[in-house]
Amino acid sequence: MIEFTLPKWYDLHAHFRQGGVLEPYIKAHLDMGCAGALAMPNTKPPTAVVFEDDENNGKYWSIERYMRDLRAAGADKFKELIVPLYLTIDTSPDMIIKGAGSGLLKACKSYPPHGTTGAEYGVPTTKFMDNGVFEAMEQAGIVLCVHGEEHGLSPDHYFDYGQNAETIFYDNYMPIVRDKFPNLKIVCEHVTTKKAVDFVLGAGPNTAATITPQHLIYTIGDLLQGLKYHLFCLPLLKYSEDRQALRKAVTDPNNTQFFAGTDSAPHTTKATDCGCAAGCFTGGIAPQLYAQGFELAGVDLSSQYGQDIFRKFLCENGASFYGFNLLDDSFTLRKEDMPVKVLETSEGNVVPLPLGLKNYTLPWSIKL
Ligand code: DOR
Ligand code: ZN
Repeated sequence: MIEFTLPKWYDLHAHFRQGGVLEPYIKAHLDMGCAGALAMPNTKPPTAVVFEDDENNGKYWSIERYMRDLRAAGADKFKELIVPLYLTIDTSPDMIIKGAGSGLLKACKSYPPHGTTGAEYGVPTTKFMDNGVFEAMEQAGIVLCVHGEEHGLSPDHYFDYGQNAETIFYDNYMPIVRDKFPNLKIVCEHVTTKKAVDFVLGAGPNTAATITPQHLIYTIGDLLQGLKYHLFCLPLLKYSEDRQALRKAVTDPNNTQFFAGTDSAPHTTKATDCGCAAGCFTGGIAPQLYAQGFELAGVDLSSQYGQDIFRKFLCENGASFYGFNLLDDSFTLRKEDMPVKVLETSEGNVVPLPLGLKNYTLPWSIKL
C-alpha cells in the first residue's frame, strides 16, 4: 500500500461564498488537510473595499467583514487566510497603500468583465496599468492574482483551435504588465493553456501560477463527450497539448513557480434553464485528485523522488511565494479507494466533481 505524509497545505485559490454555506465549505477544506486559503472575493456584492467603513451603503463588501465572517464559520482554524481585493472601477492607489499599511490587504484579484461567475464588476487589466493601481501594488508588495482571459470576445475568438480567451490574454496583455511592473508579484490563476505556462516559465521568479485538479486530469473532450457539465468551469478545459504543458510544468523536479489553487467553486445548481454555472467543487478531495493527476502525468508516488515533486506543488511553492510558513502539522495520503459524497448545505446539495462524473470513489484517500 502506497502511503505518504505531507505538511498541511494552503489552497491558494478557493471559493467559500457567503452566509450559512460558509461553514460546510470551510469544513470541507479543513477535512482535506488544508491549513489556509486565498478566499476569492467574487461575493455578492463583491469584496472590493478593505475597510468596513468604506462599504458605501452596501455597494461593496469589505475584506474586514468577509474575513470576520469566514473566521466565525471555521476559518479561524486556518493558519493563513487571505481575501484578495476585487479590483473595480473604484479601486484607487490610495486604497492599496492604506490597505497594505493595515495588514488586511495582501493581494488583489483582477477579473475579466462578465468573463466568469461574479465578474460583473471586473475591469480590463489595462486600466490598472495606467491609473496607478499596479504601481501602488508593486511598491507595497501586494500580489496581483489574475483571471487571465480576454473579455467580450465573439464566439469564434472565444474558443477556436488556434486561440481562445486565455491565449489572447497572455499574448496581448501579460507580457506588457510583466515588463512595466517588474517587481509586482503576479499569480496567473488557474492556467489552462501551453501559452500561459510558457509565459510563466519565461517571466522570472516574481511570476507564478495556480493549477486546478480538473485541468491536470481532463481535457475539453471529457466535457464534450456526453456534455458532462460538472466539468464546466472557467477557464474551460483545453486540448491534450495544453494539459501536457501543465503536467510537464508541475512534474518538473525543479518546479518553483506552479502550485496548488483548486478553484473549488461550489454551486448548488449547476445546470440552469439556459446553460450552466461555471465551477467544479473539489472541497474535501483536492489532494486526492491532485495525486491522481500526478500519477496520470507519470509521477511514481510510491517513490521519494515522486513524493518530493508532489510536495513542492501542493505544499511548498505556494507557501514560499506568499511568504507562509511550511507547517509541522501533517496529513497522510494513501492509495486506497475513498467514497465521494454529496455535500449537504442549507442552500441545497453540492455535487463534488467526481460524483458529477459518476465516479463514486477516488483512487486516493486522506487521513488527518
Ligand atoms: O469556474 C469558475 N467558477 N471560474 C471562476 O472564475 C469563478 C468560479 C465561481 O466563482 O464559481
Ligand atoms: Zn476562482
